[in-house]
This record gives sequence, structure tokens and C-alpha cells, in this order.
Amino acid sequence: MDKVNVIAPAKINLSLDILGVDERGYHLLDMIMQTVSLFERVTVSKKEKDITLSSNARYIPTDSKNVAVKAAMLFFEYTGIQGGAHIHIKKTVPIKAGMAGGSADAAGVIVGLDKIYETNLTRQQMCEIGAKAGSDVPFMIMGGTKRVQGVGEIIKPCPPMPRCYLVICMPDKGVSTPAAFANYDTLGEKTLVETDKLVAAMEENDIYGVAKYMANDLEKAAASEYTQPIKEELIQQGAIGSVMTGSGAAVFGVFDDEDKAKAAVEYFRGRVRSVFIAKPVGFGATIAKDRPRRR
Ligand code: C5P
Repeated sequence: MDKVNVIAPAKINLSLDILGVDERGYHLLDMIMQTVSLFERVTVSKKEKDITLSSNARYIPTDSKNVAVKAAMLFFEYTGIQGGAHIHIKKTVPIKAGMAGGSADAAGVIVGLDKIYETNLTRQQMCEIGAKAGSDVPFMIMGGTKRVQGVGEIIKPCPPMPRCYLVICMPDKGVSTPAAFANYDTLGEKTLVETDKLVAAMEENDIYGVAKYMANDLEKAAASEYTQPIKEELIQQGAIGSVMTGSGAAVFGVFDDEDKAKAAVEYFRGRVRSVFIAKPVGFGATIAKDRPRRR
């Protein structure tokens, strides 16, 4: 096989708790992460040498500044294979959203290269490669609902998110991840993040409990003037809870009713840069033809 299509879901953070910093200044985290039905489509083709990238999106880098190219380089380094690849990315996930779109692309590249070069790597090995490309990449390879700790390299099982609808709003301006973390350090202000209570709600399949305990330490640090108004409007539109995802700037609301979620999407159209309706999914980057049809 010389070419493969991979679908790579975006993620949201149901929670993000900052526990400290390591010696490099990276933040030690405790997060509940969830992949959602908003997909990057990554095509990986074999080439004799070199790594090249193209995309429908003009605003992403096509050189080694792109985490997907970096991931391919790391794959060849790890496996010792003398080869190359062309990567084509059909982007759906907004950038600077806190939804790990770039990391999803990188995860897709690793999964795709494993297939076309027949390396049969375990998910664990793929995560090892991914962790060197970016903090979120290992989770984007695993997907589903997970408790993610350390700087993203510790991935623990978590009961699946109860059935629900997600309305995800991307405001006019994105947030840079390093800036959000740096701002957090300057502000020194913590949010109450009760991860164990969130996990307990998941165990009970209680979507109202999940919505109640969603929280994000970076919400204030992201310093987006759009966060609070969107959160409030999501609640006014019938969300049972709302929070910013990752380092922002996207904000999502959890809905227990599909019609209300669809009405909320209509409400936000034109009021934010982009709005999506999605559901939680139980998988990470996956060869398109192997995609599970059910949760
Ligand atoms: O690993 P990634 O490239 O996604 O991280 C981007 C930047 O975000 C890092 O250079 C660092 O400044 C910040 N970061 C952090 N703690 C983390 C993850 C990222 O401080 N756990």
C-alpha cells in the first residue's frame, strides 16, 4: 500500500488542572480529554525521500515548523527506515482553538506511516514518537475519554463521556498556547478543578454531573475577551454546562437535547467565527476504512 487516508478527531478538555511546573518550565497537568466528531483528514503517501506537505488551508506551515512534518521525521528516526512521505491535510479544526488540530494531524501522520511502511507499531510506540512531536499528540493517537497527566505523556483510562451533544464556538481571535501558560504563571490565579468529582460523574453516566464539574485553569489566563460572553450565551441557549477547551480560544457547551443544540448552532452562526455541533467519539487517529461506526 502506497497511500492511506486517516481520520483524526479533534479534542476538547472537559477539565484542565495545573499542578505545577517541571524543570523546563512545562506545566504539569491533570486533564480529562475527549475526542469529538470533528475530523482532520490526513492522506499519507509513500515517497522515496523527503517529507512534503500540502493542505487546503493556506495558513498552516508546510515545512518542519508543522508538527505533522516533525512527527514524520520522528517516525523515520524511530524506525530507522530510509524513506519519505507526502502528507496532505484537509483541515476542519480551527487553529489556536485549544482543540489540538495540529496534534491530530501529527497523530494521523504517525498512524498513516505505520500502515504504509508496515511497521506494526503498538499504540504505545506511536505515543512515544508522538510525545516528541508535541504534548497533545499521544492523546490524539489514543482518543476516547482519558485522564491525561504529566505533560501529556501519562494517559489513563476513564469511563466514556455520557451521550450528549456539543456545540463548539470558535471566536474571532485565537489564543497561543505558550502565551496562555506564560500568562497563567504571571497571574498566579487558580480555578477550582475537581477532577475526581468529574470522573465520579462519568462513572455514574451522569451528564449533569459532568457538566457541573467541567473546569479549566487556563480560562482566565487565555485572556480572551470572548470566553465569558460565549459561555453565558451557551447557557442561555440551553447548555447544561460550558467551558473553554485547552488553552483556548474555543468554548463549548454540553447539551442533553439535540434540537436545542441545533438551535444554538443557528444562534451562534454569524456571531462567532465558526460554530460546530459534535458528539464525543471513542477513538483517536484511525485509518479511515477502519473507523468504528458506533461509539
Ligand atoms: O508541546 P506543545 O508544542 O503543544 O507546547 C507548546 C508550548 O505550550 C510549550 O512550548 C510551552 O510553552 C507550553 N506548554 C506548557 N506546558 C504544557 C504544554 C505546553 O507550558 N504541559
